[in-house]
Amino acid sequence: MVGTTLGARSFTFSHAITRKPGQSITDGLRAVDTGAPSLELMESHHKDYVAALKSAGAQVVELPALEQFPDGLFVEDAALCLREGAVIMRPGAPSRLGESAAIAPTLLQFYEEVAMIEGLGQGSGYIEGGDILVTEREILVGLSKRTDTMGVKQLRDIVSRWGYTVREVVTPRGVLHFKTDCSLLDEETILSTRKLSNSGCFDGYEIIHVAEGEEAAANTIRFNDLVIMPSGFPKTAEILDKAGYHVREIGNSECAKLDGGMSCLSLRFSRFV
Ligand code: GLY
Repeated sequence: MVGTTLGARSFTFSHAITRKPGQSITDGLRAVDTGAPSLELMESHHKDYVAALKSAGAQVVELPALEQFPDGLFVEDAALCLREGAVIMRPGAPSRLGESAAIAPTLLQFYEEVAMIEGLGQGSGYIEGGDILVTEREILVGLSKRTDTMGVKQLRDIVSRWGYTVREVVTPRGVLHFKTDCSLLDEETILSTRKLSNSGCFDGYEIIHVAEGEEAAANTIRFNDLVIMPSGFPKTAEILDKAGYHVREIGNSECAKLDGGMSCLSLRFSRFV
C-alpha cells in the first residue's frame, strides 16, 4: 500500500516522470516559428533538467522518446498526479491526443487509482496539464485553447472526491497554457507575469512578479527545496534568490522554440511504497 509523505503536498515530491526528446521534435507544435530546435542541444538541456530533479531528491522515471508524438517530451500535459490518484488528461491539440494512452502504463505502475478525462460530444472535454496549477489550498485551471469548461468539470468531479477544490480561471489571450505565465513557489507564493496576475486570479496569495521583459521566466517548478527555472533571466533569478529560494537555472532555448518550459518536462508526485 502506498503511504503519504510529510510536507507540503503541492511541492514535496519523491518522484518525477520525464520523456526524452526524439528526432521528431522538429515537428513539434509552436505558436510562432523561431527556427528548428536542435535535438543535440535539447538533449543536453534535458540531461541537466533530469540531473536537477535528482539533486532535489527525485527518483526519475526516464521514458524513451516517442517519435509519433513530437511534443511527447512535454509529459505534464498528459496527466495530473496527486497524492491520492492520477488523472489522465485529454489534450486539446489533436496531434497530442495519443499521448494520454502512452503515459497510462507508467502511471499504473505507481497508482492504484488512475482516472481519465473522457471526450464528450461535439468536440468538448479537453484539458492539458499545463493549464493546471496545484497549490496547497486549491487547484486552479486556466481555460485556454487546449482546455475547455467540460474538461474542467470532469477534473473537478474526479478530484473533489479526493478533497480538492477546483477553481476555473482564464489563461491570458495569446498564452499557450496557464502555467506558461505562473508557477508555485511555496504554500502561499506564486511567481507570475503581471499580465496574468492582473486578472486577479491570485488574490489572497503572495505574488512575486518576474522582471519586466523576462516573462518567459514565469514557468518554473518548485521540487522540494529547489526552484528550477530557465536560464537567461538574470533579473528574475536574482529576485528569487533574494527572496530566499534555492534556484537552479537550466537551458531551455530549444524547448522554448516549441513553447515548452520547465513544468512541461515532468510529472512530479509523491509515492512511498
Ligand atoms: N509544443 C507544445 C504544445 O504546443 O503543446
